[in-house]
Amino acid sequence: MHLFLIPFGFFLSLHFPGCSAAMDTITSRQALVGNDRIISNNGKFALGFFQTGNDHNPVTDTTTSELIISSDGNLVILNQVTMSIIWSTHTNTISNNTIAMLLNSGNLILQNSSNSSNVLWQSFDYPTNTFLPGIKLGWNKITGLNRRLVSRKNLIDLAPGRYGAELDPSGANQYIFTQLNSSIPY
Ligand SMILES: *[C@@H]1O[C@H](CO)[C@@H](O)[C@H](O)[C@H]1NC(C)=O
Ligand SMILES: *[C@@H]1O[C@H](CO)[C@@H](O)[C@H](O)[C@H]1NC(C)=O
Ligand SMILES: *[C@@H]1O[C@H](CO)[C@@H](O)[C@H](O)[C@H]1NC(C)=O
Ligand SMILES: *[C@@H]1O[C@H](CO)[C@@H](O)[C@H](O)[C@H]1NC(C)=O
Repeated sequence: MHLFLIPFGFFLSLHFPGCSAAMDTITSRQALVGNDRIISNNGKFALGFFQTGNDHNPVTDTTTSELIISSDGNLVILNQVTMSIIWSTHTNTISNNTIAMLLNSGNLILQNSSNSSNVLWQSFDYPTNTFLPGIKLGWNKITGLNRRLVSRKNLIDLAPGRYGAELDPSGANQYIFTQLNSSIPY
């Protein structure tokens, strides 16, 4: 199972009993578990655990996994049984005074709850195979972050596949299509 964003159309007829507070937000008091979804305010995007096929890496069981704000303020996927962290936003926050919000653009952001302009992490920095308005591709020369599109392995296993589209690392003013981990552009 994977945690990812999908267009919301498939779920319009469902009821969302797990979400009693703001439906677009995860707070330190409200984890996302099992079949819970958070929904962007405009109803266009949903976030939750979805089963995508037989390959369940990295989350094998939604009944033991939860998406929560950890005590260090990061958004994490936690295995409730082993208490191990399966995934984290890995920001250098020092307080748990953060919330995660699914914006109308489809961007999932981790923000300082005392200052909504203080965005600590955003999913738009880690696009998968879909380009949405507001996503920027390119290199951050200071952090080394390479914002690029990456294909999926196949329709069932949504793990990263073999192809990428990125700003030319040579510095030339162009986007290139490559086989990942190979410098040979198509
Ligand atoms: C932050 O974490 C501390 C220690 O774990 C806890 O006592 C406090 O209630 C948490 N604050 C919020 C807003 O959840
Ligand atoms: C959150 O914002 C408040 C108020 O601006 C600030 O005092 C605090 O240090 C910020 N916390 C983080 C983790 O950036
Ligand atoms: C809120 O965060 C923004 C962006 O980090 C910062 O420029 C601004 O000074 C902060 N406001 C307060 C009141 O701390
Ligand atoms: C590319 O390299 C990274 C790091 O070595 C590895 O985790 C990943 O599986 C590789 N991807 C492909 C498509 O070979």
